[in-house]
Amino acid sequence: MATETIGAIDIVAWFVYLFSAVMFVVGLHYMNSPKTARKGNMISAFGMVVAVLMAFIVLFAKGFVSTVAVVILVVGIAIGAIAGVVSAKKVKMTDMPQLVSVFNTVGGGAAALVALNDILTKAETPDIVVLITAGLGVVIGSVTFTGSLVAAGKLQGLKFMRKLTLPAKGVWNVVFIALTLIAFVMLCVQPEQRLLWSVLATVFALCYGLVFVIPIGGADMPVVISVLNACTGTAVAMSGLAIDNVALIVAGALVGSAGVTLSILMAQAMNRPLLSVLAGGFGGGSSAAGDAEGPEGTMKETTADDVAVQLVYAEKVIFVPGFGLAQAQAQRELADLGELLKGHGVEVSYAIHPVAGRMPGHMNVLLAEANVPYEELVDLDDINPQFSSANVALVVGANDVTNPAARRPGTPVSGMPILDVDMAQNVVVMKRGRGKGYAGIENELYFKDNSQMLFGDAKAGLQTVIAAVKELIA
Ligand code: TAP
Repeated sequence: MATETIGAIDIVAWFVYLFSAVMFVVGLHYMNSPKTARKGNMISAFGMVVAVLMAFIVLFAKGFVSTVAVVILVVGIAIGAIAGVVSAKKVKMTDMPQLVSVFNTVGGGAAALVALNDILTKAETPDIVVLITAGLGVVIGSVTFTGSLVAAGKLQGLKFMRKLTLPAKGVWNVVFIALTLIAFVMLCVQPEQRLLWSVLATVFALCYGLVFVIPIGGADMPVVISVLNACTGTAVAMSGLAIDNVALIVAGALVGSAGVTLSILMAQAMNRPLLSVLAGGFGGGSSAAGDAEGPEGTMKETTADDVAVQLVYAEKVIFVPGFGLAQAQAQRELADLGELLKGHGVEVSYAIHPVAGRMPGHMNVLLAEANVPYEELVDLDDINPQFSSANVALVVGANDVTNPAARRPGTPVSGMPILDVDMAQNVVVMKRGRGKGYAGIENELYFKDNSQMLFGDAKAGLQTVIAAVKELIA
């Protein structure tokens, strides 16, 4: 093909990729609010479709691919598109975090492969800029690949994944970080040996991904998920720099910077130094802590009628939603109960813990879907001083984020800031039974003198309470 034609294709491609990048930014802007988030998603997805089509056209127009390769690409795109659409449609809202982790796995792996291809298939020795950017793409993408795979298994609650442990965990982290760094540096200084060093860097980084996430358990997964998210974006951006693709650079930079911001926020929310996450310095605490004798006190059961009386005669009620609310899809019932009580003159607010549920902002999204006014959602720092003046704290499917065991050392939730629900005058906990929270430990809150348990599915339980409240008010 004539040099001018190739030049023209490159210029058109550059503008099309820039257009895609603008679509990503505009889409992200619309995601600022739950009302426009869907539109934002569509705009970003459109940008991605345009970028993929352009990449395909460039490959084809420049004659880079044979007919067989085109068939493989088309089949690959079709399989990927079908898998993406089916999984996104079928997966339940509560399983979204696992799906996001699987997407991170695929994203990290793809970025590593693109970068590896760029290092290995160039006829001439790649220059130092390509070696650094592509090398980082390989390393970060590989860490993300195995790390996200283990994270997805843990989030899915796969028993063998959650039980996986690693003796001397911190040591393995340091060993594989050091080996990966050495291989990466050698790749940059000995590019003629790039096959050896890039393969070694990939293997060591894959191992680091495993030893980084395997020991992390209990309530510490939110920080890890955010860090892996940041890694996916960074790996994609690095691969984009290596192959000079502006759409990849911008998409990766957006995901990477959002992931870094989220990691910092999550680490602050969990009261963990971010650097110690990367070195695997936490995630400890025996899940059996406190279980040997069990918490002091006994669980007291209550009835929906009794809960309704407490709520109707209260002046101030705080709702405490958690993962069980999402699991039961009971957000609309909770919002209805809130409206009913407010109409009766009761002050109602929703206590939002930053890691309640299974993904960042889970409770905000859930309650926004049920049209709960945003000003009624109160952050941890602002709601905690209010519990002592609340007549009733109604805990709906929240467990770890309310566990007073976090206030003492030696448990998987130690150090995590919690909602001070136990300070309320009366606490009503709605959950199905005596199941433990994500961290796998007993909740001391349930055994306190001021706590009562209303057992049952959150949705059905709230419907019964709503009926009882309506009867009382009438
Ligand atoms: P969890 O500690 O997971 O507890 C949820 C509780 O909901 C369970 O004890 C369960 O008890 C109950 N439940 C389940 N299904 C229910 C239903 N249909 N109706 C009523 N209750 C139901 O929830 P949490 O307090 O929100 O804490 C979140 C945990 O997940 C933290 O440890 C956090 O670190 C971790 N985590 C968070 C994230 C993010 S980013 N948010 C990511 C990964 C992990 P029963 O079985 O007895 O009903």
